[in-house]
Amino acid sequence: MTNSSVLTIFGATGDLVRKKILPSLYSLYKSKELPENLKVVGYARRDFTGDKYNKFIDESLNKYLNIGTVDAKFYDLFEYVQGDLEEEAGYKKLEEVIKKYDTMCGENCIKLFYFSIQPSFYETVASKIAEFEFNNNGYRLLIEKPYGHDEQSAKNLDSRIKQYFSEDQIYRIDHYLHKKIVREIPEFRFGHSIIKSSWQPSEIKKIVISTKEDFGVEDRGAFYDALGTLRDVGQNHLLAIASLIIMDEYDLNKPEDFLEKRTEALKNIKILEEDEEIKNNTFRAQYEGYLNIENVEKDSKTETYFKARLFSSKEGWQEIPFILDAGKKLDEHKNVVKVYFETNVIFFEMYPNLEICIGKYDENSEQCLMKMDTEMSEHQYVEEYASVIKESIEGKRDYFVCIDEVLHQWKIVDAIVKAWHNNVVPLETYKPGTTPESNIN
Ligand code: BG6
Repeated sequence: MTNSSVLTIFGATGDLVRKKILPSLYSLYKSKELPENLKVVGYARRDFTGDKYNKFIDESLNKYLNIGTVDAKFYDLFEYVQGDLEEEAGYKKLEEVIKKYDTMCGENCIKLFYFSIQPSFYETVASKIAEFEFNNNGYRLLIEKPYGHDEQSAKNLDSRIKQYFSEDQIYRIDHYLHKKIVREIPEFRFGHSIIKSSWQPSEIKKIVISTKEDFGVEDRGAFYDALGTLRDVGQNHLLAIASLIIMDEYDLNKPEDFLEKRTEALKNIKILEEDEEIKNNTFRAQYEGYLNIENVEKDSKTETYFKARLFSSKEGWQEIPFILDAGKKLDEHKNVVKVYFETNVIFFEMYPNLEICIGKYDENSEQCLMKMDTEMSEHQYVEEYASVIKESIEGKRDYFVCIDEVLHQWKIVDAIVKAWHNNVVPLETYKPGTTPESNIN
């Protein structure tokens, strides 16, 4: 790990910072995994100057890490700058602060800008910081999803950001790629000869990738209503996992090969183009009561649950369905990936348990025979975001998302969304606490 870094967080008083970023920073701090010489500059509109930001840190750590007393030295890592994302004045103050730490930080200092803000501001912030010449090689952008809302908008956003930053300065986050069990998939597939030889299209019958949640949209009405489940988690998390399951073996010593193979796997996923294909292979539904949520359109047709059956067009894989399934207010909270073979099934469970299991199945049941537990962290988000922060500082790009992946993910999803807009697949409803039935299996 580099020993000096300046991490600037835009949106420093937001939810993501409170729930995930601060607890992760603290956990890295306690385990001494942060650069020796680190400064965290928080930037946001609210007046959190003086010791108000320390109070915000306290509240976050109390609530999300159950910490009674925060190690006082932790506060020293922070400096808060009050400013607006669009106004020059704030950036001027920020410039002073960054320059001050930059000088202290020295030559090999890694300077990161974390965009923990609404995606509609990504472009503005990138151009503002470039105006202050914070875009040479020493600077990196850490960007949350969604990157665009379809293929075209992702392309537009990317080309605007690329006026100032190159691809290798952009770290696009998909926090599923920082989950322990997701990381185990390539390791498990390619690291054991017995698994490697069975993990062949001739042996695999079906793949299921599912993230079911028993809670609802909560206070994210406007954000969610504009996206829906397919774009909220299907385009990114679920397709990212799919690529790990069907990708070709990569050269362990070449991180760029890992990215290429993942991208290639996505490229091979067949786009559902014909209405008939979309009708037969996708399903969407909305839970009863969704329309009463604040900032949700009263006649919204946004799905809160979807299921899709996709196929790869790669030779050998064409007949193997992989089923994506996700939603809110369902009967359970469970995230799991299942790979079915002739009579056996391998489960990669991310939630509520953290385990890999080799089991068997028949028409009526599925049974785990041999379980490999992975230590369950009390705070799974802390681990995931600690990995995001650590690896971006280290410049380890292999578990961040490259632009070609994002564009292919959107391409796959756009075709479905377009047909849904034309009502090719009717929107069903379901009762909260149930998972709607569909004929996609
Ligand atoms: C986010 C989505 O990306 O992932 C949320 O915006 C979803 O709607 C969340 O709840 C799921 O992540 P996890 O790690 O809790 O499964």
